[in-house]
Amino acid sequence: MGLRENGKGTPKSIDLFHILKVNCAGVHLAEYPKEYEKTVMLDDGTSVLFRPELSTDTEMLWEMFSTLSSESLRFLVIPFTRERIEGWTSNIDYDKALPIIAEVQQADKTRIVATATFEFSAASAFKHKAMFGITVHDDFQNKGIGTALTKHMLDIAKRKGLSKVSLKVITENRRAIRMYEKCGFKIEAKLGGRILLTEDTSTIT
Ligand SMILES: CC(C)(COP(=O)(O)OP(=O)(O)OC[C@H]1O[C@@H](n2cnc3c(N)ncnc32)[C@H](O)[C@@H]1OP(=O)(O)O)[C@@H](O)C(=O)NCCC(=O)NCCS
Repeated sequence: MGLRENGKGTPKSIDLFHILKVNCAGVHLAEYPKEYEKTVMLDDGTSVLFRPELSTDTEMLWEMFSTLSSESLRFLVIPFTRERIEGWTSNIDYDKALPIIAEVQQADKTRIVATATFEFSAASAFKHKAMFGITVHDDFQNKGIGTALTKHMLDIAKRKGLSKVSLKVITENRRAIRMYEKCGFKIEAKLGGRILLTEDTSTIT
């Protein structure tokens, strides 16, 4: 599948750098859920950091979403405008939505290469549920990042005490369906051209 875990932890360079960035952006440090950081390593040796999104991620997110292929975009809710991405990063509230990004260090720059998000319902009756979404940049698809990030999100769901994670996927998106089923999601319903998949996270051991 292409990944082996490298344990929890953070590359040395990111701790102070991101804490300073969070401070500069005016976000209270206590709000940044550092416990949701994790580093994995691809078979080719590339180290990938999963971490909660920060308000300072706008440029890297824009670079990722503005360079997705039309094949990837056809499975996503478009368009990804600059305004939409600024809306994400200027309104980070980890209690309402928890976006986790995948970051790699390349020779000359740092790149965001994937994002996954839980959206929580405002209604208290549904607080134990979350909707899930994920995108891996074309340059990094089929390397196991989607599987590893989805598993990381399910681990977070368990730690947060969520009981159910759901998502909708277009029927033709065979790769995504294969990945979700591999991670334990079950088909709950077929709705027109879409499939509703859910995972009972209360049973994950
Ligand atoms: C779907 C997506 C998240 C998967 O992430 P990824 O990092 O590419 O996936 P992985 O490499 O972890 O796993 C993909 C699996 O699908 C398999 N696969 C690839 N193409 C496939 C296809 N056409 N049909 C079925 N399975 C396929 C791979 O072999 C792999 O399975 P394996 O590990 O058992 O070999 C990513 O490709 C993506 O973002 N695509 C565009 C946007 C999108 O579709 N988002 C999801 C919306 S619901």
